[in-house]
Amino acid sequence: MNIVLIGFMGAGKSVVGKALAENIDYRFIDVDDEIIAKSDYSSDKEIFDKVGEIAFRELETEVIKSLSKASKSVIAPGGGIVMNKLNIDYLKQHAKIVFLKASFETTVIRVKNDRDRPLFHDEEKAKKLFDFRQPLYTQYADGIIETDNKDIETIVSEIIKLP
Ligand code: S3P
Repeated sequence: MNIVLIGFMGAGKSVVGKALAENIDYRFIDVDDEIIAKSDYSSDKEIFDKVGEIAFRELETEVIKSLSKASKSVIAPGGGIVMNKLNIDYLKQHAKIVFLKASFETTVIRVKNDRDRPLFHDEEKAKKLFDFRQPLYTQYADGIIETDNKDIETIVSEIIKLP
């Protein structure tokens, strides 16, 4: 069984995912890195700028589909994974889905200095997207971990303890 970490930008999916994978001796797969490797570009921002979000989403679903062969892996998709139910259907077949939940205030602090996030340039728009996606993350998750004011080790051990 794989573990998939979902949540909004800045939820800590990559940093927690790496630490979790190391702790339980799983492979860590960053879905954005796989998408970039499949594209002719060097970042998600560049894909958004040059060919647009729709092309990015198509690549994202292709990568998610190909991950059905993965095993013993911690998978960290981008925050937009819940925008296409097909992605969740693919992932659910072979993974436990864990929602890393953070408040919007914490999210802003975590991503404030990161200019590379194409969907976080305008804080008001980002808040709308955040509110829209929260029920989706909750609905698709097998387990939810609150991450505000917690260090990585605590979050990792809470994920491991999930039923
Ligand atoms: C996105 C989140 C990004 C990346 C892309 C789109 C989103 O990943 O996949 O920029 O729609 O929320 P992170 O959640 O790792 O920042």
